[in-house]
Amino acid sequence: MLGMTTLVLGGTGKTGRRVVERLTARGVPTRVGSRSGEPPFDWQDEATWEPALRDARAAYISFQPDLAIPGAAETAGAFARLAVDSGVRRLVLISGRGEEGAQRGEEAVQAAGADWTILRSSWFSQNFSESFLLDAVRAGVVALPVDSVSEPFVDADDIADAAVAALTEDGHAGEVYEVTGPRLLTFADAVAEIGRATGRDLRFAPVGLEDYTAELAAYEVPRDEIELLSFLFTEVLDGRNASLTDGIERALGRAPRDFRDYAREAAASGVWNGTA
Ligand SMILES: NC(=O)c1ccc[n+]([C@@H]2O[C@H](COP(=O)([O-])OP(=O)(O)OC[C@H]3O[C@@H](n4cnc5c(N)ncnc54)[C@H](OP(=O)(O)O)[C@@H]3O)[C@@H](O)[C@H]2O)c1
Repeated sequence: MLGMTTLVLGGTGKTGRRVVERLTARGVPTRVGSRSGEPPFDWQDEATWEPALRDARAAYISFQPDLAIPGAAETAGAFARLAVDSGVRRLVLISGRGEEGAQRGEEAVQAAGADWTILRSSWFSQNFSESFLLDAVRAGVVALPVDSVSEPFVDADDIADAAVAALTEDGHAGEVYEVTGPRLLTFADAVAEIGRATGRDLRFAPVGLEDYTAELAAYEVPRDEIELLSFLFTEVLDGRNASLTDGIERALGRAPRDFRDYAREAAASGVWNGTA
């Protein structure tokens, strides 16, 4: 229907894909905003923004590659202002917890002039099954430059539920929902949960940052990506986010999903043994 589209940036990614599925199931007209979308949307090509925003009245903003990187706040702010100029009245932003750059991105989106909701999120559980940790889990050894710090991994399904509530229901405007899962886990704990769920002998191995980045470079991971991972593992995973919050409860009126349930479901899908 003309004038009623919801633009979902990162609409094929970990949270965006789930937001699109939920909106579509509710009969809400939705447009995927990504480089493979129709029309294509690219954060690095401003000329693609206006066509993607045509007829949109609400938008889910998932910045790439990460809202914490230098320049992200300015770019996200410029997009949000263009969205408002184009007729968007509601903006929902996925942001990162404990990241100064991401918090600047939140402020830029808040200042754009639409109703806004922020989902300030801890690490997604799905990083183990749909992102850069997948290959390591499949190989049987997850080696990361992190030791005993704990993280309240949050389920991308919960984030998508909260995003859809904020995009489609009243009562979420002006809310910063700091979202976590219900339990603090070290990375070793998380890997052990996946081991139990899959019945495989899975090992977590703490490594030094230099060895980790050298390994990534050997696999020809782009330098930007290596820098981003180094920042996340050294600065953000320093214990600052080792606490639980009630964001999912406040947004949805229910408890967040536990990592164990995520691990069981992902194991059943076959993603970790290559049969998915
Ligand atoms: N992962 C986490 O644990 C975590 C935690 C807290 C906050 N966040 C935030 O969540 C956001 C998304 O991160 P994510 O890890 O979940 O990634 P993701 O959404 O899984 O990333 C992939 C999505 O981004 C699109 N994309 C990639 N490059 C793009 C570009 N240049 N222009 C437009 N779209 C592009 C991809 O589609 P195409 O390939 O078709 O372009 C795909 O839809 C980030 O801003 C991050 O800061 C992530």
